Amino acid sequence: MSDVKTEANRRRTFAIISHPDAGKTTLTEKFLLYGGALTAGAGAVKARAGRRSATSDWMEMEQQRGISITSAALQFEYRDCIINLLDTPGHRDFSEDTYRVLVAADAAVMVLDAAKGIEPQTLKLFEVCREREIPFMTFINKWDRPGLGALQLLDEIEKTLIVEPTPVTWPVGLAGEFKGIIHRGSGDYIRFTRTAHGSTIAPEEIVTAEQAQIDEGEAWTSAAEETELLDALERSPDVKTFLACESTPVFFGSAMTNFGVRALLDGVVDLVPSPTPRALADGGRLPVDAPFSGLVFKVQAGMDKSHRDRIAFVRVCSGQFERGMMATAGGTGRQFSTKYAQTLFGQDRETVDLAYPGDILGLVNATDVRVGDAIYSGGVVDFPELPAFAPEFFMVARVLDTSKFKQFRKGIAQLDEEGAVQVLRDPDLGDQAPILAAVGQLQFEVASSRLENEFGAPVELNPTRYTIARKTDAASGPKLRAMQGVDVLQRANGTHLALFESRYWMDRVLADHPELTLERMVAEGGLS
Ligand code: G4P
Repeated sequence: MSDVKTEANRRRTFAIISHPDAGKTTLTEKFLLYGGALTAGAGAVKARAGRRSATSDWMEMEQQRGISITSAALQFEYRDCIINLLDTPGHRDFSEDTYRVLVAADAAVMVLDAAKGIEPQTLKLFEVCREREIPFMTFINKWDRPGLGALQLLDEIEKTLIVEPTPVTWPVGLAGEFKGIIHRGSGDYIRFTRTAHGSTIAPEEIVTAEQAQIDEGEAWTSAAEETELLDALERSPDVKTFLACESTPVFFGSAMTNFGVRALLDGVVDLVPSPTPRALADGGRLPVDAPFSGLVFKVQAGMDKSHRDRIAFVRVCSGQFERGMMATAGGTGRQFSTKYAQTLFGQDRETVDLAYPGDILGLVNATDVRVGDAIYSGGVVDFPELPAFAPEFFMVARVLDTSKFKQFRKGIAQLDEEGAVQVLRDPDLGDQAPILAAVGQLQFEVASSRLENEFGAPVELNPTRYTIARKTDAASGPKLRAMQGVDVLQRANGTHLALFESRYWMDRVLADHPELTLERMVAEGGLS
């Protein structure tokens, strides 16, 4: 097997999705602890404190609101595998960002709070997963605290998400009286011991059924009965249905005390698929050992106040990346040097010299790339276009101080390239008063705060009368434009969008003019 194939087979690239506060950050840290990437005790606490005090203008906003807007990629080794962990924004207003991160992931882990079950944002993020057809595992967190029943939670997953929950581990002890887990595959009972503040790996002890019965009594009897019930119902993990998104392997644990974290990480290694040949725009597939190629899934600027730079996050799809190699940016066809390639470890950056399929690179100052672009070192590679989410909010943006128009122009172009908001222009008016279109209102706050702080161009944003948009084309554009209550605007990438005042009006136009192109976009009408 080629080196590239061997390396690709060792990669596990996944993202964590959760409702804010379910424990995503804590779990991420515990993964690092088990992966040996975080030293015990103070290290973990410091990493957390560091994250909280991270600087940059708009991260301040993120902290004030307690939401995660930026996404980071972390890499660590575990059981001979290289784990690439992608962070996703927790807020539904950034569901388009979540989608893009999932484009770079091979699977997701959905974290639930045992006391809350499926919360509104879990559901929305799950729908993004379903839209992207990405397999996901479920981690039921905070089992150290009183919560819902384990069977009740399975029931909720099944009924709400319409997917079969298949527990890999089963808790011994009700939520709040967590003793350990039964690993259903091996039948082992793994008992945990708490450590001070969960800052070191929780000691584990494999206990026989007889001993468990003596030590745990009722807690053991119920857990054993419940696992028998699961066996009888044939609720066992199955790779085929997991990959088809028909089942979700379930793990129980407590990220805070580290209980069940190792089993989950083992699950990541055993279940998350290693990178497979990537789908191409022409319907073909790109072998993992083809020459180097990657997909830009996120572009982010101003991550660090002291470096006013712009990083393109690239998921390696094929071949071996070597720092310094020349690559072509698919969007413009221009070549650039990859001298400044980095991996990110939270806020810390490290230079990366080699990378393989599944890995995430941060290319610094790759000015020519935009989200969705392919970059490659061999022949031309073209990945399928990333679907745009249907915007539901539309605001006209005007620069407050006209002497700052140049900065304003630069800023909106940048926001558009990053996909932070969609920038729609009237070809006759250009950048005078573009319409910013968003999936969620918070995107406007980020846009306006960044235009002011990062580009020095304060803006006013005023509502428009539009509420819904569809993708159209150059042929239908003029006819639609001539109609009342419709406008047709263009994105920098050439896409034409038709904006309507109401769905009712759009439906009428559709009924009266079936010959016009009006394509639905992802999640039109909002993620339910
Ligand atoms: P998020 O990234 O999904 O938003 O959640 P985060 O990890 O920040 O966790 C949210 C809160 O839940 C934190 O408490 C965290 O300590 C707590 N938590 C996470 N996992 C567990 C768990 O397994 N058991 C229990 N009991 N709590 C858990 P906080 O008070 O908001 O923050 P902190 O003061 O602990 O930092």
